Amino acid sequence: METEIVKVNHRCVSPEEERKLRRAGEILKAGGLVAFPTETVYGLGGDAMNPQAARKIYTAKGRPSDNPLIIHIGHFEDLFEIVKEVPAAAARLGEVFWPGPLTMILPKAEKVPYETTGGLETVAVRFPSHPVARKLIEYGGGFVAAPSANASGRPSPTSAGHVVEDLSGRIDMIVDGGPVGIGVESTIVDLTEGTPRILRPGYITQEMLEDILGPVDIDVTMMRDDSGQAPKAPGMKYRHYAPAGRLVIVEGEPEEVVAYINAQVLADSRAGERTGILGTKEQFGKYHADVVKCIGSREEEESIARNLFSVLREFDDEKVTRIYSESFPAQGLGQAIMNRLLKAAGHSVVNLRNREE
Ligand code: TXA
Ligand code: MG
Repeated sequence: METEIVKVNHRCVSPEEERKLRRAGEILKAGGLVAFPTETVYGLGGDAMNPQAARKIYTAKGRPSDNPLIIHIGHFEDLFEIVKEVPAAAARLGEVFWPGPLTMILPKAEKVPYETTGGLETVAVRFPSHPVARKLIEYGGGFVAAPSANASGRPSPTSAGHVVEDLSGRIDMIVDGGPVGIGVESTIVDLTEGTPRILRPGYITQEMLEDILGPVDIDVTMMRDDSGQAPKAPGMKYRHYAPAGRLVIVEGEPEEVVAYINAQVLADSRAGERTGILGTKEQFGKYHADVVKCIGSREEEESIARNLFSVLREFDDEKVTRIYSESFPAQGLGQAIMNRLLKAAGHSVVNLRNREE
C-alpha cells in the first residue's frame, strides 16, 4: 500500500488543505486508516464504530488486540452516544479540561464494538483540542479510534516523520500538521469505580484533577514494577517506548550524577559500547559520550515532555548501545515524564543516594 502524505498548516487551514482533510475524512468513513496530529502525540485513526477498521489498526501497529483503543470525539455531546452514563465527575472534568489532553474511562454503550474496546465493557474517550484533529474527526464521521501512531513498542510519534518511520506503506494517509505541542500522551482517568484513578499520568496532573474532583488515586503500577499487580490500562503492561540500547536512569545530586555517568560511559566505551547520555540544559556541557542529547531545561518541564520521545528515537538512529539518563522529580508533569522514562528503561534505576560508600 502506498501511504499518501499531506501537509496541513495547523494554525490556518487553507481551502486547499480543507479539501485534503475532507478527503482524509472520506478515507476514515470508508474503513481506511489515517495518521493525524493531536496536541499530545500523533494518532493512528480509524472509524471507531467499524470493527474492521479497529482490526486494521492492530495489524498496522503490530499491537496485541486485547489492548483497547481511545475513541476521539469532536463535540462534548457526542460522549453521550458512546457511553452508558455520564457521571457528574465526567461532566465536570469535561467542562474544565475538554477539549484537551484528558481521556476518561466510562461504561461503554452497546453500539461501541468490542473490537474497539479490546473486549472490555468500558470505553476510553477523549476530545482533543488540536484544530486538525477536530476537523478530521468531524469529516471522518465523529468517532475516531486512535492509538498513538507508532509501531507497537516504539516511542510515541511527536512528528509526522516519526509516523513515516514506523507506519509508511501500512496505512492510507499521514496528515502532517508539524510537531506536536505536549509530547506525552493524554492523562487517562478511570471513572468506573469508587475513587477516580489515574491509569496513565499525562499533562493534566493529579493535582489538577484533585482540584476539581477531590481525592484521586494513581495506579500503583505506574511508577513501580515491584507491586506484583497488573496495570488497569492493558497497554501499560507492555514494554514500551524502549530504545534499542540499554537505558539506565541515574538519580542523585547533580554533580554526583555527572561524575557517575561519565565514569560509566568511559568504562562502557573501553568495553566497545557506543554510548549516549540524555541530559538537561543545566548539566549538558559536563558530559562526555559518543552521543550527548539535551532533552530540555529543568526550569521548563514542558520542554522535557515535548522532547522525550524524539530524543529516545534519535539514540536508535545513532545506533547507541548504552544510554544513561538524568532523573526527574515525579511530581506534576514530572509524574508523566518519569513514568515514560521508567518504562523505556525497563525500571533500571541507579540511586546514588542509597549507595553504600
Ligand atoms: O494522547 C493520547 O491519548 C494518544 C492520542 C493519539 O490521542 N493516544 C494514545 O492511545 O496514547 P494508545 O492506544 O497509545 O494508549 C491508550 C491507552 C492504552 O494503554 C490502553 O490500554 C488504555 O489507554 N485504554 C484504552 N481503553 C481502555 C479501557 N477501556 N480501560 C482501561 N484502559 C484503557
Ligand atoms: Mg501508545
